[in-house]
Amino acid sequence: MNIAVLPGDGIGKEIIAQAVRVLRRLELPLELEEAPVGGAGYEAAGDPLPEATLVLARKADAILFGAIGGPQYDALPRDKRPERGLLRLRKELGLFANLRPARVYPELAQASSLKPELVAGLDLLIVRELTGDIYFGEPRGIATLANGEREGVNTMRYRESEILRIARVAFEAARKRGRKLCSVDKANVLETTELWRQVVGALGKDYADVELSHMYVDNCAMQLVRNPKQFDVIVTGNLFGDILSDEASMLTGSIGMLPSASLDERGKGLYEPIHGAAPDIAGKGVANPLATIISAAMMLRYSLQRATEADRVEAAVHKVLQAGLRTGDIYTAGMRKVGTQEMGDAVVAAL
Ligand code: IPM
Ligand code: MG
Repeated sequence: MNIAVLPGDGIGKEIIAQAVRVLRRLELPLELEEAPVGGAGYEAAGDPLPEATLVLARKADAILFGAIGGPQYDALPRDKRPERGLLRLRKELGLFANLRPARVYPELAQASSLKPELVAGLDLLIVRELTGDIYFGEPRGIATLANGEREGVNTMRYRESEILRIARVAFEAARKRGRKLCSVDKANVLETTELWRQVVGALGKDYADVELSHMYVDNCAMQLVRNPKQFDVIVTGNLFGDILSDEASMLTGSIGMLPSASLDERGKGLYEPIHGAAPDIAGKGVANPLATIISAAMMLRYSLQRATEADRVEAAVHKVLQAGLRTGDIYTAGMRKVGTQEMGDAVVAAL
């Protein structure tokens, strides 16, 4: 099995190194090959998605991705910025289905910014559409009007077929979980999402065993902090999913705990923590590697058909949390504060 390993920028390198150690410890027939992406791609080849990296990602069975971005790249032209590398990779590989689970480990309920009783036992899945919407819609750009004033334009667009395929992924996921699906839109204002609601609703007829509801995105943002346990699976578009998944991550105690999978039509995937490159703590050895390690577990489960090993990795993470080890982002009084490397050591030892 060939894995493309793309560490990226900032803490990406540090957290990926720990996930790679965990994967190697499993002693599976894995070929891991590294390539630069994001700012590192720009520095190596003048392109946030160098051709060689794209070729490697295409031929791999799965992709393990760190994080990209950093203030030193903010002044670059838009198509050279790190984010473009990730967005192009998603688009080129057709990775339209982004699964972002938010599970609260009992040990971390105290670390949540919400009251422990609101989040204890929380287990929700956000299914975010990842290759359409205002992220990719044309026309886009910043133009100068006749009067000299500048105007920024982006376009929110969804085709029926794009809505249908992501809705199907969400219904199938709900079927394997709590059989509840909440579709999130802004159908009271935006026609794009009015269509979204119609298409999801029509598909719901094929999934009579799944309880479907619809919710406006502003209400959903509120319900997520009011009573998050009402949700099982949430399906939504690219932009709303970006925002709601960051919000949901904090319910779990830390964005440093949340993995994600981005899958194509055949289940090939890119696996990454949902947090970013955190330039403020990069190189200090304090980043939490667990989201990346859990992402590697998702990769074993979804793209490599290695459920047993995925279970083992997740159990090892759980054990380390039970033993009281915490990186700074999930630290609470009485626990043992550790750095990136020590957390990786502990997971490897638990395996
Ligand atoms: C994410 C990130 C990306 C996104 C950025 C880095 C382009 O926020 O994966 O959620 O907006 O999709
Ligand atoms: Mg985001």
